Amino acid sequence: MSSSEKAFYLTTPIYYVNDAPHIGHAYTTTAGDVLTRWHRQRGEEVWFLTGVDEHGTKVERAAEAGGVTPQQWVDRLVSTDWLPVLETVDAANDDFIRTTSSRHIEGVQRFWEVLRENGYVFAAPYEGPYCVGCEEFKLPGDLLDGEGEYAGQKVCPVHGRPVEQLLEDNWFFQLSAFQQRLIDHYEANPEAIQPQSAYNEVMSFLRQGLVDISMSRSSVGWGIPLPWDEKQVVYVWFDALLNYATAVGFGAAPDTTEGKLFARTWPADVHLVGKDILRFHAVYWPAMLMAANLPLPKKVFAHGWLLVGGEKMSKTKLTGISPDQIIDHFGSDAFRYYFLRAIAFGQDGSFSWEDMSARYTAELANGLGNLASRATAMVGKYCEGVLPSAPAVTDAEVVLHDALTAAAAEADRAILELDFLTGITAVKSFIDLVNGYVTEQAPWVLAKDPVNDDRLHTVLYTICESLRAVAVLYNPLMPKAMTSLWSQLGAEAQLGPIGEQRVADVGTWGRLQPGAIITKGDSLFPRIEEVA
Ligand code: MSP
Repeated sequence: MSSSEKAFYLTTPIYYVNDAPHIGHAYTTTAGDVLTRWHRQRGEEVWFLTGVDEHGTKVERAAEAGGVTPQQWVDRLVSTDWLPVLETVDAANDDFIRTTSSRHIEGVQRFWEVLRENGYVFAAPYEGPYCVGCEEFKLPGDLLDGEGEYAGQKVCPVHGRPVEQLLEDNWFFQLSAFQQRLIDHYEANPEAIQPQSAYNEVMSFLRQGLVDISMSRSSVGWGIPLPWDEKQVVYVWFDALLNYATAVGFGAAPDTTEGKLFARTWPADVHLVGKDILRFHAVYWPAMLMAANLPLPKKVFAHGWLLVGGEKMSKTKLTGISPDQIIDHFGSDAFRYYFLRAIAFGQDGSFSWEDMSARYTAELANGLGNLASRATAMVGKYCEGVLPSAPAVTDAEVVLHDALTAAAAEADRAILELDFLTGITAVKSFIDLVNGYVTEQAPWVLAKDPVNDDRLHTVLYTICESLRAVAVLYNPLMPKAMTSLWSQLGAEAQLGPIGEQRVADVGTWGRLQPGAIITKGDSLFPRIEEVA
């Protein structure tokens, strides 16, 4: 980043590397990528962080089962799966943090030293339930009665498996000291937790009262040693949450590169999380920051789960679908489009091959792809591939000009609120309108008689200029196909790279100039005959 402007700083959760990624993980990363690309196209500085959570019992046990050391296990999975999946989904992250990196380990140790110096850390025994799947000390009210093979036992509501009973001497974080401050903070800043259901859940949890919580584990070996008690490691969540700070230079001197990055990014604008990890981000994390006297994140947004058979998709339950399975078939653009288009962000949703295939064909291949190929083919056929001017504008065109202005404004408003579905629908409705216009104006009929040339040219210009705007509006969502459309429209030569087009200008009619060289390139969304 070059300027000293505050960057829009967005994070994804860091993913456990006990196993390979499934589409639930790719979903969060994709949403973050679309949102940050949108902010970039608004001309803002952006910092987009993602990464992996490598410590804890879950990873340690996976490594043990795999017959290797935890470090070998994470090194292998990060390079074979977790880094490649970013390319698979086409994420343009600025950084990737690993919790086994020295920048993170040193930052975590420094942070907990500060909290100890500030008087918020004390020694005490912990006795109670722990879910290894969640890596969480459970409260009695969190658990459900087991059924079937687990009858008579208490099970975790997320994993449906029995919890483990722990008894160990730990160090505690004095979470209870922050109950009222957190309530006051969220009452004054209701937009800091979204959607509303997530806000309500956190407020009711806070009002029930906070108890102090273990910040270390004495029976776990795979983690970051406490600087003042080397026999213990930092509890994995109190190590992991700090990635948001250690990755942007927490603790570095202000005049260093890292220190400057911290000044430009902190605090985070959005922490994107799944709803299962809301409490960590909206209660424990801000309490830790209050204890360290650091500014709090502006927003935690909790999205829903991808479900299979009505339950959260997970590798543990063997319901995980890998992003490759879908992307090999439909491509990364269609993957990105589908999950943000078919499920309201913040609610649960189910993936089905049939639904994905139907939307791909109707909305992408037929809706947008066909419009683009017809437009470029007709300019090729009737105007030798050179974009004509629009000498005979009628009400039919003015309707489209106005619709575009409205769609661009609506998409911007909705996406800034992380309402991807409404944003995409605004653009899609505009595409539907343009398709209707093509059918009504029937340029192939106009082309039969040269007396209609002014109208023919106006219609062709209108379609191509509409596609110019669609390309920009959809670029954060489907960068590969929109970059291709942009070059087919000859827009790159006139207006520069698509990523540099500004959201604020997109609704202004007439940006693509007559004379643009239009070429019919590869189909944007090739037809897919059969779905696996
Ligand atoms: N390591 C912690 C996060 C630490 S952040 C400081 C963790 N990792 S995770 O790999 O289990 O989950 C990471 C994210 O993926 C969470 O936001 C979680 O909600 C999301 N998903 C995992 N399965 C999912 C679905 N089936 N559907 C949607 N998102 C899901 O928690």
